[in-house]
Amino acid sequence: MLGLAAKIDDAAQAIRQAWSTRPRVGLILGTGLGGLAAQIQQEAVIHYGNIPHFPTSTVESHKGQLVCGTLSGVPIVAMEGRFHFYEGYSMQQVTFPVRVMKAMGIDTLIVTNAAGGMNPQYELADLMIIEDHINLMGDNPLRGVNDDNLGPRFPDMCEPYDHQLIEIAKASALKLGIVAHKGVFIAVAGPNLETRAEYRMLRGMGADVVGMSTVPEVIVAKHASLRVLGFSIVTDMCLPDALEPADISKILKVAAVGGERLSQLIPHVVAQLK
Ligand code: HPA
Repeated sequence: MLGLAAKIDDAAQAIRQAWSTRPRVGLILGTGLGGLAAQIQQEAVIHYGNIPHFPTSTVESHKGQLVCGTLSGVPIVAMEGRFHFYEGYSMQQVTFPVRVMKAMGIDTLIVTNAAGGMNPQYELADLMIIEDHINLMGDNPLRGVNDDNLGPRFPDMCEPYDHQLIEIAKASALKLGIVAHKGVFIAVAGPNLETRAEYRMLRGMGADVVGMSTVPEVIVAKHASLRVLGFSIVTDMCLPDALEPADISKILKVAAVGGERLSQLIPHVVAQLK
């Protein structure tokens, strides 16, 4: 059986055959954020099914393809559709594409997601720049034998989200007139949304928003020494004393509004990475 490093090489090589450019930035597009992919000057689009060892996407609102090209003049590879732990994938499968993007040559990873807002000062469709995270998923993509060529056994997590990128994002949002909070993302396994008691606990733990993705990818990105920038879109309010049943179609609509804002903000940020 092939080891992880060989699988990464296989996948990266297959992608290089369709697109030989070395990307600087990797972008993971979360729920409802497909619009951003349209802004990329596309040079190649590769379906996950055509990449060796890539899992395939099962969620309807997620496409499953790599979009390769340039954004604001910077070579970029974007995942239109990500893999979630709740779909039944292992943490290693969820994070495999991050390894592959690293092998392709990226030095910066931008992650996005739809999240439930627990900070009462947040509003629907607001953006939050992720300043820090809490892993409450009950698993870890780095569990198991460590390949020292990919990263250290005990990766440091004192600054998972690059403070310079956070400052660039904050200043860009200000310039564009887009509300962007800075806060803490907490990841749960899902797929059910949380109970009132759970929201109370998660908020008490110090989180501003909650979601079911991102943290595995960021852990692997840090393991691979990538600079990381993360954004959440507040798609529903999760205030335990004023909780309403979650309406997934409404969540997707709000995600699209936030997605429009991110579609303005991210190219502005990427332009400054040159
Ligand atoms: N929990 C609650 N609301 C959400 C989530 C979540 O994980 N993701 C998007 N909205």
